[in-house]
Amino acid sequence: MSQDALQSRIARLERIIEISRSINSTLNLPRLLHQILAAAQELTHTEACSIILRDRKSGVLRFEATIGARSQEVRSLVVPLDGSIAGWVVQNNRPVVVHNVRNDPRFYRKVDQEVGFETRSILAVPLSVRGKPIGVLEVLNKEGGERFTEEDVETLMALADQAAVAIENAVLFQQSDLVADLVHEMRTPLTSIIGYARMIQRDDVSEDDRKSFARTIEREAARLSRMASDFLELARLESGRAFPVREEVSLKSLAAEAIALLRPQAEAKQIALIEEVPDDLPTLLGDPQRLHQVLVNLVGNGVKYCRPGDRVTIGARVEGDEVLVYVSDTGPGIPPSAQEHLFERFYRLPRTEEDVEGTGLGLAITRRIVEAHGGRIWVKSDVGKGTTFYLTLPLRREAGPSSSSRR
Ligand SMILES: Nc1ncnc2c1ncn2[C@@H]1O[C@H](COP(=O)(O)OP(=O)(O)O)[C@@H](O)[C@H]1O
Ligand SMILES: [Mg+2]
Repeated sequence: MSQDALQSRIARLERIIEISRSINSTLNLPRLLHQILAAAQELTHTEACSIILRDRKSGVLRFEATIGARSQEVRSLVVPLDGSIAGWVVQNNRPVVVHNVRNDPRFYRKVDQEVGFETRSILAVPLSVRGKPIGVLEVLNKEGGERFTEEDVETLMALADQAAVAIENAVLFQQSDLVADLVHEMRTPLTSIIGYARMIQRDDVSEDDRKSFARTIEREAARLSRMASDFLELARLESGRAFPVREEVSLKSLAAEAIALLRPQAEAKQIALIEEVPDDLPTLLGDPQRLHQVLVNLVGNGVKYCRPGDRVTIGARVEGDEVLVYVSDTGPGIPPSAQEHLFERFYRLPRTEEDVEGTGLGLAITRRIVEAHGGRIWVKSDVGKGTTFYLTLPLRREAGPSSSSRR
């Protein structure tokens, strides 16, 4: 090794030590992932980088963070364990360099197609904790069209070793947050129940006030009770113990059921419910009860947050090897700054906090269910115009080779 090469190697390793110090000081997962990606990009001089993590329970590989390519669209895309470079890295627990992805059958093309990015070359290294892979760190397209070097591999492996432990810690921390969040959210209704229960006992309270306080107590207690059941549901989903059921389901009937269930509420508010799922939509494999819940949550939100005269529409169509379901409304819309938080547990728009009953758990649960089915969910919304929630569910594939093969 030449003197220069040695110097640059030492400089890189020093930089890794510096970086690992800073990544080990954050437990905020999104921020942490971003730091790791920025470091990976800096150290390897590449156009884009991604972190793909393996879900602890379901084993599904999913994009958690990306820089350089359109990160919003990439996030939470699922990557197959067989038939992707990341899957190969996880299964073999070894790094891989692909100088030209076009010549590599493992390369999973769908992500590029989805985000309009062109991957040419990849260096992917496992993120392993105590020898067990928890995910993959990938860097794409070295700047100037150069080839990945041995040094790149060594550097990225060294970074991945540090990163993996930090990610594991942040993930564990995030899970423990579930309980902390619940306790925090229970405080508000409990405080008001205690406060009004005390007021009710005072002698100088009018009969009318007493009734109104009792109603508040009842409402807040009902909210607590709903929170408890929603929360249990979410905890069950997050623990991954929730999906034994894989039945044939018809989205058409599920949509009709959801609409029928919400019809009274919608009529009371003068909101039109429209179902436009095609009759010949293929059936899916999944958990009918949970998918029902997804549709009820989304249509229910539409009804809850729309105003008299608005419309809520549910529809679906086949797109490639997935079904795209949409629930669209002509309601008040959701500002962009809030859109990114919608699927977080307990998140509610500030203005809905007072006006409309809710727990802020519906969309968190919905997202879990969709992802457990191998799908994705996202939102498009314009303030003043309306909101559309989209979700995908994979179509059942017939056994055997790809669809291009003859029957
Ligand atoms: N269709 C919609 N139109 C406008 N805002 C919505 C819509 N759906 C959801 N939201 C906003 O997202 C928040 C979170 O929704 P969700 O998780 O279902 O909880 P909840 O309905 O219990 O408040 C809601 O409080 C509301 O502010
Ligand atoms: Mg809701």
